[in-house]
Amino acid sequence: MNGLVSWRRDGDVAVITIDNPPVNALSHAVRAQLLAAVREADADAAVSAIVFACAGRTFVAGADISEFGKPAQSPILLDVIATLEHIDKPLVAAVHGTVLGGGLELTLACHFRVADARTKLGLPEIKLGLIPGAGGTQRLPRLIGMEHAAPMILTGGPIAAPLALEVGLIDEIAESDVLPAAITFARRAVRDTLPIRRVSEMENKLAGLRGKPDAYAAIVAPWAGARLDAPKAAIELLRLAPTLPFAEAMREERATFTRLMNGEQSKAQRYLFFAERAAAKHPALHPSLHPALKPAEPRAIAQAAVIGAGTMGTGIAMCFANAGIAVVLIDTDATAVARGRASIDKQYESSVARGRLTADDKAKRLGLISTAASLAAAKDADLIVEAVFEDMDVKKAVFRDLDAIAKPGAVLATNTSYLDINDIATSVSRPGAVIGLHFFSPANVMRLLEIVNATATDPAILAAMFALARKLGKVPVIVGVCRGFVGNRMLQVRAAAIERLLLEGALPAQIDAALVDFGFAMGPLAVSDLAGLGISWRMRKANGLHAAIADALCEAGRFGIKAGKGYYRYDAGSRRGVPDPDVAALIEQTSKRLGVTRRTFTPDEIVPRLITPMIEEGRRILAEGIAHQASDIDLIWVHGYGWPAARGGPMYYGGVS
Ligand code: 3HC
Ligand code: NAI
Repeated sequence: MNGLVSWRRDGDVAVITIDNPPVNALSHAVRAQLLAAVREADADAAVSAIVFACAGRTFVAGADISEFGKPAQSPILLDVIATLEHIDKPLVAAVHGTVLGGGLELTLACHFRVADARTKLGLPEIKLGLIPGAGGTQRLPRLIGMEHAAPMILTGGPIAAPLALEVGLIDEIAESDVLPAAITFARRAVRDTLPIRRVSEMENKLAGLRGKPDAYAAIVAPWAGARLDAPKAAIELLRLAPTLPFAEAMREERATFTRLMNGEQSKAQRYLFFAERAAAKHPALHPSLHPALKPAEPRAIAQAAVIGAGTMGTGIAMCFANAGIAVVLIDTDATAVARGRASIDKQYESSVARGRLTADDKAKRLGLISTAASLAAAKDADLIVEAVFEDMDVKKAVFRDLDAIAKPGAVLATNTSYLDINDIATSVSRPGAVIGLHFFSPANVMRLLEIVNATATDPAILAAMFALARKLGKVPVIVGVCRGFVGNRMLQVRAAAIERLLLEGALPAQIDAALVDFGFAMGPLAVSDLAGLGISWRMRKANGLHAAIADALCEAGRFGIKAGKGYYRYDAGSRRGVPDPDVAALIEQTSKRLGVTRRTFTPDEIVPRLITPMIEEGRRILAEGIAHQASDIDLIWVHGYGWPAARGGPMYYGGVS
């Protein structure tokens, strides 16, 4: 059988095992062997029930994504699933790890499901620009009801075993090992002649929705405004579950899956899935490729310290606490410490209020965060993240002090946005310990972490920070030292292109509308107003730089939402900007002053004017070796700057990756 799927008899129970490391993806060979094994077990008169399990760290994590976009090879998953479901012997899935996509759909074809207590089950296809394509859109609502199925399919987020049991997705949680528990379950099913439960034939959970389109609309209302093809299609397909006969709805599901799989959006999202995995293959993380380097030693981070309790420091401290790591938040300004504490408390409280966190978890997380006024409190930390003012002298002074305090082996990280980390490293006696950990605002929300590999950074520290980033739930990308690293360097290029476009004739609302239409959640100028225009203005002044229009806005006191005006005007208490004739006048005057002739721009002209220079800058970044591969740049823009995932990233969009 070539080893991917095997089966054996345990008394009168056949145990079929898939063993296709690392995640038991349903490749063509697995599908073919699985079908053969099921048929053999079914035909064996000595077998009265079948249990179906996986070897290794997880049950099937889905269809084999690397086969998507290529011609489908028979047997397709749908055929395997239909065969399984119609077997007349009780079929029990024994699941563990992450049961995802086609993996979960496979269990929905089984008659019963027994899970290990730590199992997570989900249909993440939407994150790949797809819908579940092997019956998930029709079987899941039949099994657990639309009110539970729709959120699972539309968010793609998995649910844990206890909730799965509560909603009826699984029938039992194993008290210890899942396989013996599933075998016992199968024997009980035979002994007690439990009726075979074919999910495709279960209709009662959908009965309440028949002829009640409003009830369905209310369930999917949170996603009604979806702009991407996959969520729109999922809403249409789920609507069919209570409306069309199963077989007919399944034909629609198949056609939709094929359409989405061949579409540009899913292609881009699948590219990003592999890009995330490729980021971990950075040569600097694999010292074996560099014989001169010592192999990375695992380094545990049990205690962290964050210096600076401002916007970033508080968010970074929360990242550690959220991952169960004790952290001390240090600021020389007592008001900043108090403000930081209050902000952390408020954010956790709001998560509790929205049901995203239990009061218990909030208390646990707060218990992991202590505060201090002196750097001395960082002396026991395994990792210290500096997030003080963006000023080289201030940062160097902090690093000099830390050098005297930090324990041997401690990692000394900076969250600087633009400064030269090689220069910062000159202020300590142990430059190998210095690294950039560039979090994005809000640090506890944004998934990107640019890990800046400075010239002297110890490879073991680099590897440890990459592993830590994963533990924090981040998308880590390794970059080299240059002004602004990858993300902010390209952001500045886009900012310059925006200035030029405004001078030549476009207005803020036109630029924002073009990029929102392109897929960004917010336009860049609305984002500037939200973040505040003052920081960049001060930075430009400190570096002798100019941006005629942005400078003029700041000089007119238009610092953004907080000031009630920026690129837009804001009514009291509103965060929704309204185009302001004063801004149009200010821009026109600036164009005139600089002798630039204005003209109108169409959205089709605006997008390339902003994006082409970014792609060119990306090419330079690659040529300089600041980023290792184009897909790293794309991850940075998608996870740090809101580039629409369905467009892959700037380099993908520009045909560079
Ligand atoms: N197909 C092909 N390869 C896959 C895969 C899949 N479904 N899932 C993971 N892999 C590969 C990864 O690319 C990686 O390869 P590499 O070592 O060469 O880089 C390797 O398996 C290990 O993956 P991770 O590094 O991600 O391992 P983790 O332990 O961190 O995570 C996981 C495991 C949670 C299962 C994660 O890999 C994951 O989320 N996988 C994708 C799950 C998914 O999206 N499933 C739905 C697929 S679409 C589908 O099933 C359609 C159906 O409805 C018809
Ligand atoms: P902030 O001004 O909100 O906070 C800085 C804090 O550092 C203040 O509370 C200040 O009291 C404290 N501080 C100053 N000197 C100190 C010292 N010697 N010892 C201890 N504490 C000291 O600044 P913010 O926005 O949090 O930025 C911090 C760093 O993070 C900067 O380097 C910035 O470039 C970077 N960054 C900022 C982002 C943002 O969106 N705000 C995003 C990513 C990085």
